[in-house]
Parts: sequence; structure tokens; C-alpha cells
Amino acid sequence: MLAGGCDSPVRSGWGVGAPMFVQSSARGAYAFDEDGRRYVDYVMAYGPLLFGHTHPALVAGLDDLARHGFVWGSTHAEEVRLAERVRRHLPSMQRMRFVTTGTEAMMSAIRVARAFTRRNRVLKFAGNYHGHFDLALLDAGASAHTTDSAASGIPGGVVRDVAVVRYNDLGSVDAFLREHADDVAAIAVEPIVANMGYVAPQPGFLEGLRERADRCGALLIFDEVITWLRFGLSGAQGRAAVAPDLTALGKIMGGGTPIAAFGGREDVMGVLAPDGAAFTGGTHGGNPFCVGMAHRVLDLLESHPEYYAYLDSLARRLADGIRAIFTERNLPYAVVQRESIVDFKFRAGAANRNYDDALAADKAAYARYYREMLDRGILLPPSQNEVMFVSTAHTEEDVNATLDAIVRSVDS
Ligand SMILES: Cc1ncc(COP(=O)(O)O)c(C=O)c1O
Repeated sequence: MLAGGCDSPVRSGWGVGAPMFVQSSARGAYAFDEDGRRYVDYVMAYGPLLFGHTHPALVAGLDDLARHGFVWGSTHAEEVRLAERVRRHLPSMQRMRFVTTGTEAMMSAIRVARAFTRRNRVLKFAGNYHGHFDLALLDAGASAHTTDSAASGIPGGVVRDVAVVRYNDLGSVDAFLREHADDVAAIAVEPIVANMGYVAPQPGFLEGLRERADRCGALLIFDEVITWLRFGLSGAQGRAAVAPDLTALGKIMGGGTPIAAFGGREDVMGVLAPDGAAFTGGTHGGNPFCVGMAHRVLDLLESHPEYYAYLDSLARRLADGIRAIFTERNLPYAVVQRESIVDFKFRAGAANRNYDDALAADKAAYARYYREMLDRGILLPPSQNEVMFVSTAHTEEDVNATLDAIVRSVDS
């Protein structure tokens, strides 16, 4: 009944030649299949579950939230308070709007940038994923296999207005800007990438984008849908000390419920109706139930700064263990870990720096590994473009079980 058997193609298992993982429930660090078998879950819903599946502070007392109604269609004090809290952590977001998904947040940020600059073109980076709206899908990372734009339903006009350049390569940005600097509305980027495996921005890359955006009058958009709250309360922009003009948020902020946001400079956001002519809006914008959940997420993180140290030390233990396994077997794969993200690819050499590196990884080797790990009770993302997410619900025992399964999988 579902088209392609699923609501999001990566879930079908097409990337790993495996039957679709059909889930029946989840608890803490674990996913359960339809037979009730337990798996240590590193997919973590592709990012939202920093606290695992059922943190008591997020699942307790939901009646209190629900009894006020799920959706109102009116502005309310709690969404204003949430915006204030977000801005305290992300001062670049002077004005914002709440939406439902990361896709909507990025799509809206790009509309705002176009309306503000009165320009059309958008510069984006191969292997960055920004959601499933038209221009975002060109050369996108994650599980978006969009190579034939016409067959993918992406109009030619959209293709003409988007330039896809290489991540960590300011030269490729400059080559495009030499021709089109006067018509670039936005440079859109994942400031730390988790959609072509984990890719760190090389020193000077984000600063270089900031400087080029300023020089050509374009706006710099940071897609922090994965990175905000995963890399601390001030996100990747805080870590990098580079302020974008616009930011998109999502995933972790809803604690598992769908809420996202976009926002940025007050003058830029002023293009939005009713002050300006650009329209964004929606039935579920600022949905009070999801806003309530977002407050709970911020309550948790503001009152538990030690969570980040725990995530880092547990993920480090996992990454160190994988490195040791590979070293003992002369397997030439670079293992990377940054805070709660752990990643390696079946490709010899340094860790991914761009999408070319990501595409060079051995898909068949990952597919085999995915299936071996699944057999041993470890749920990995069914695509090598994704990463392993460690949550606060994972324990040392989970990591030990995972390392044990890795040994048996690579030795099998
Ligand atoms: C960096 C990034 N931006 C945007 C999106 C789109 O978010 P959503 O799936 O909520 O539409 C994703 C989703 O994986 C993402 O990783």
C-alpha cells in the first residue's frame, strides 16, 4: 500500500540489498523488530534522538501537553518563549519562524534569501542534504539518488538556478562566482556534514564562505538541521564562530516530534508577510504540542551539560574500539568521531572531505557489513552516506556488544 513500500526511500533497504527493517517499537538505545527481537540502534531516526527513544523527561506527563489541544492555528506565548530561548543560544537568529520539517525550514530560508536579495541563483554543495524540495535534491547526499532531474520531477528552470560545487573547495566556489556573483541569492551549506558520511569543514572553509557571501552580496545559510543541539546549544555556528545570515533547525529540537525552524537577521526576515511580500506559513507552524516538546528538550540540555561529555566519551570509546579492530586486521579505513557521531567508510585513505570521496566508498562491502551487523543485533543506517549516532541512552555494554559484533562481522 505504501509507494515503494515505505515513506522514505532509504528505509526500503535499497542501498544495502537487505529486506526492509520493519520496526514494532523502541526503548532507550534499542529498536525492536516485528518478532520482538532487540537491536542496538545507531540510526536514531537519522538524528533527532540525542537522548535515545524514550527519555523519561520527554515521555512522561504528555497528557499535560495534550489536554490543551494538539494544534490551535493561533499564535501563542510558548512559541514566542521558545523563539527567545533559541535566540539566546543562537544569537544570529534574531527573528525566526517555526515550521514542521527540516525540508520546510531550508526551503523557506532560501525563499527569504531570494526575496531579500531579489536574486535567483543558489550555490550549494555536492553531498549536502537539505531536504526533498526541488533545488535541494540536485547532487544531494544522504539517500537522495537524483541523477536525472527530468525523471526526478525537477524542472529545468530550477536546475539552471542552482550551482552545485565541491565541499571544502573554495576554488570551486570562486570559479562559479567569477561568472555569476551578481545573481547569487544564497550560499547554502551544512556547516558540519553528516549526509555524505561525517565531513568536517576544513579550517578556513566556513570563514571563506562568509567572506565570499559578503563580497558578492549573497546570504549565507547554515543548515543546522542535524548539527544544532548535537554539537552543543550554540550548534556548529558556535563551534566555528562564523555567523550565518540565515539558519535552518530541526531534528533534535522536537525530541522526536516534528518541529523545525528557520530564521536569521532581522532585516532579512523582514521580507516575510505580513511585513513583506514573501509568504511562508502552515497549519502546523508553531504546533503547541511540538513547541512544548522543544521546551522539554531545551530544559534537558540546559540542565544537563554533562550529557555532552558523556556522549563524547562513549562515542570515543566506540571509535577507538573500531580503530583497534581495523588496525589488527590491516584494514585501511579511517574512523572518525566527533562528539556523538561515529563514522567510517569502506574506502582506503583519509576520511571523507567531499562527495567525490563519499562516492568512492565500496557499496557492496558496506551492504555486506550492514547485513552481518543486523544479524548480530546491531541496527546501522541502511546507506553508507549516513553516520552512526550515539545517544545518551547508549551504554558501555551497548558499545562492547557493538564492537564484538564488528569483530565477528569483519572476520566472517
Ligand atoms: C542537514 C539536513 N537538512 C535538512 C534535512 C531535511 O529534514 P526533514 O527530513 O525533517 O525534512 C535533513 C534530513 O535528514 C538534514 O539532514
